[in-house]
Amino acid sequence: KRTVILISGRGSNMAALIDAAADPAFPAEIVGVISDQANALGLGIAASRGVATKVITRADHASKDAHDAAIDAALATFGAEIVALAGYMRLLTTEFVEKWQGRMINIHPALLPSFKGLDTHSRALDAGIRVHGCTVHFVTPAMDDGPIIAQAAVPVLIDDDEPTLSARVLRAEHRLYPLALKLFAEGKVRMDGRRSAFSGFAE
Ligand code: GRF
Repeated sequence: KRTVILISGRGSNMAALIDAAADPAFPAEIVGVISDQANALGLGIAASRGVATKVITRADHASKDAHDAAIDAALATFGAEIVALAGYMRLLTTEFVEKWQGRMINIHPALLPSFKGLDTHSRALDAGIRVHGCTVHFVTPAMDDGPIIAQAAVPVLIDDDEPTLSARVLRAEHRLYPLALKLFAEGKVRMDGRRSAFSGFAE
């Protein structure tokens, strides 16, 4: 399945997806990366791995609708069948999300439905939870609210701070996201209303 990744920054999850998809047996092919930030570190990483990149900034467009329409047009040019958000730090318009609903996935650095939004690791530390993690989910118009595809849990250690905890979760993200994209691209999970529906697993 032709997959385009949307990023805004570092691109480490993007790199994990590109590396997994480099295996010819992987059911998704990363055909392009779109960034809304001209200076995103991930752009250079994608280019160095031979993936086409495109910068589409909000500032270059008159409205949020026009920005997302430009992204949609670029997705069409790439022939995208799947969109994977990987640290894309901008809320997409309802119109765009509804068009791609069921074909667009995101990774969030917390065990949803806990800790939607930003600063998940500091908030997890403040809450004193002992298990934290990450979630891959279908994107719906409400932020970090779509049907869950896969989750990975990590322990919160007693001497953790934000850097140590976020690094542990990030390592889990880099394993989880390729796994979830694989399940989706090979048709073993689909969006079914408020839940994900799974099929095709051996007993
Ligand atoms: C990740 O923690 C991801 O879960 C969140 O934003 C961060 C992006 O990091 N949505 P990277 O750009 O993939 O390195």
